[in-house]
Amino acid sequence: MNKSSKKDYEIRIDELIYKMTLAEKIGQVVQLSPSLFGAFGLTPDELIEKLVIGEISPEEFEKIDRNYHEDEIRQGLIGAMGGVIGAEKSNELQKIAVEESRLGIPILFGLDVIHGFRTVFPIPLAEACSWEPELMRETARIAAKEASAAGIHWTFAPMLDVSRDARWGRVAEGAGEDTFLASIIAASRVKGFQGEDLSSDESILACAKHYVAYGAPVGGRDYNTVDMSLQALHDIYLPPFEAAVQAGVATVMSAFNDINGVPCTTNKYLLTDVLRGMYGFDGFVVSDANSVAECAIHGYAEARKEASKKAIEAGLDMDMSKGTFAEDLPSQLEDGTISEEVLNEAVRRILRVKFKMGLFDNPYRTDKDKEEKVILCNEHLKVARDMARRSIVLLKNENEMLPLKKNLKKIAVVGPLADNGTDMLGTWAIVGRSEDVVTILSGIKEAVDSDTEVVYSKGCEIEGDKEEIKKTIEDASDSDVIIAVVGESSEMSGEAASRIDINLPGKQLELLKELHKTGKPLVVVLVNGRPLSIPWISENATAIVESWQLGVQSGNAIADVLFGDYNPSGKLVSTFPYSVGQVPIYYNHPMTGRPAGKIKFTSKYIDGPAEPLYPFGFGLSYTNFEYSNMSLSANKVTKDSKLKVSVDVKNTGKVQGEEIVQLYVYDVVASRVRPVKELKGFKKIMLKPGQLETVSIELDINTLGFHDENMNYVVEEGLFKIYVGPNSREGLEEEFYVI
Ligand code: BGC
Repeated sequence: MNKSSKKDYEIRIDELIYKMTLAEKIGQVVQLSPSLFGAFGLTPDELIEKLVIGEISPEEFEKIDRNYHEDEIRQGLIGAMGGVIGAEKSNELQKIAVEESRLGIPILFGLDVIHGFRTVFPIPLAEACSWEPELMRETARIAAKEASAAGIHWTFAPMLDVSRDARWGRVAEGAGEDTFLASIIAASRVKGFQGEDLSSDESILACAKHYVAYGAPVGGRDYNTVDMSLQALHDIYLPPFEAAVQAGVATVMSAFNDINGVPCTTNKYLLTDVLRGMYGFDGFVVSDANSVAECAIHGYAEARKEASKKAIEAGLDMDMSKGTFAEDLPSQLEDGTISEEVLNEAVRRILRVKFKMGLFDNPYRTDKDKEEKVILCNEHLKVARDMARRSIVLLKNENEMLPLKKNLKKIAVVGPLADNGTDMLGTWAIVGRSEDVVTILSGIKEAVDSDTEVVYSKGCEIEGDKEEIKKTIEDASDSDVIIAVVGESSEMSGEAASRIDINLPGKQLELLKELHKTGKPLVVVLVNGRPLSIPWISENATAIVESWQLGVQSGNAIADVLFGDYNPSGKLVSTFPYSVGQVPIYYNHPMTGRPAGKIKFTSKYIDGPAEPLYPFGFGLSYTNFEYSNMSLSANKVTKDSKLKVSVDVKNTGKVQGEEIVQLYVYDVVASRVRPVKELKGFKKIMLKPGQLETVSIELDINTLGFHDENMNYVVEEGLFKIYVGPNSREGLEEEFYVI
């Protein structure tokens, strides 16, 4: 089949818009979304159950259950659908759209494919700890292959919200607290989902979300208001979106929150001036679920109708909801309250993306056979295991306790997350299944020698008071080592899962304290979707392995690290606070006039440290790396030049290992107070024992700027400090001048 050329499709879009009725045009700007009711992929029976238990109203049920709205599709009233999963189901509905609707416009099927499809990869926060953008591109590619085989055209990912608040549950979905790293990862993930060619059957549209600053809600409470300077918005929260646009992202999702009083969904400055004007975005913008209607609840519009007008006029093209645009636009277009040209532009942008995807030429991109072959195949599982072990961060390893020998006599594996599949999947694993997961217990059993005894005991639940700690201690007290797997359930992070307290929930800390009393080496494996506050564990455990939620290959990946088949190399992308009271806490905070010091009147707390427990960029290895001989290619550089920064890194330990060499910069005097350190480069290297490598990182001086009060990006002349080291706290230091 001939693919439509650009010129060709622009003409066809004009022709279509000319022929479309108002109702058909509105159909294109509507995304029907069962997600509102949590009804992803539900069968009619499951829907009935929801109706019976009152989770959905009869009206809602009626709407969802009309055979997936076949009639509306036939009438050309539905441009996109969320939550339709499966080749057969999506092809069936597509056939109605293409063959039975008047103009034959194909439907776009969207889904939250956040960290893998059926092959569930580590949560995005974990993947980011690998600092390996190429591998993250590959996991996104695999997710696209599996999702497209199941009839999905469009993922609502990647989530690009920079966040510095561990209370916010959605830190799990992003790349952490750093803008520079998050921007690189944003581009990788977009390229992974979309591939080289959007019209390939294996590519899906990416969606940069949530535009913007959704990761900075006051108090860390999901959906809460965001109040920040425009400079912070442009310096910290917007750059990952700009990077996604440069990488060719096809769609963007507006965030639920308001910024400085204007909801993102109706924010013309953000949707039109910045996104399209400054960044040159040429795709379409979808709202977050129901966020147009919610502008009326914000009180930014008198009623839903006015919210619809404000949103579409601000540059929002598609409404993800059951009926806001669909019900509110017709009368306003008919009486001229909204100009039809505004609607035409939104329709044009959406159709353009459908053409670019090749949907008009090739609306059925998959079939049942392909779906069965691709999903959860061995090749994908191999990558999942590798990605998972590279996402692990070793936080403590006293007396080189790890790696463990495989021939120990007895290992006690304890804790509510040790033999648990569901909670390894993490948030937003919509099609993931717990039975696909290698649990930590089975990974350990698989790894050790056949005559090593592995005893398992749960100890307590993740949450609540139920425990059997006494029995667990009895089982564990004659073991060679205790591996305690503790943390959070999948549901404790992600959307609508902010926490007021980020300690270990339930009786888990008590369990660890009792285990510690046995005097046996205590290896704590953490499973969690956010940084936790773990001062007691940090002080008392023999070793700490931060494994986040690693997906289907969790157990194998963790066993690879525990027994030394893989030497951990991950580094934190989110600061671990000492206490929740420090939150939000992040390494790249602006310099205060009274930095924390010994005397009282400095920036600190009277009842705890100002420093975090583990800083951004921190992570240990089974070997050691020594940094020396830092040098710069020049001490004076111009704004448009590049500085070569070199450092010798030597593996001084006994095993080979990877190190993430990090480069930070501090602009000492500027017209705006600058962060004490900012990541501006990194390189991951592999060194054999005794091997020394001179690592060079090129620093683009143009990246050292910030936004002035008129939102102009400026790089200022003057003194800069530069650090190269293993994390944001330690490193060698030099200085240079920008002239
Ligand atoms: C979330 C989005 C998601 C959408 C569709 C919303 O509640 O905020 O991230 O893409 O639902 O499921």
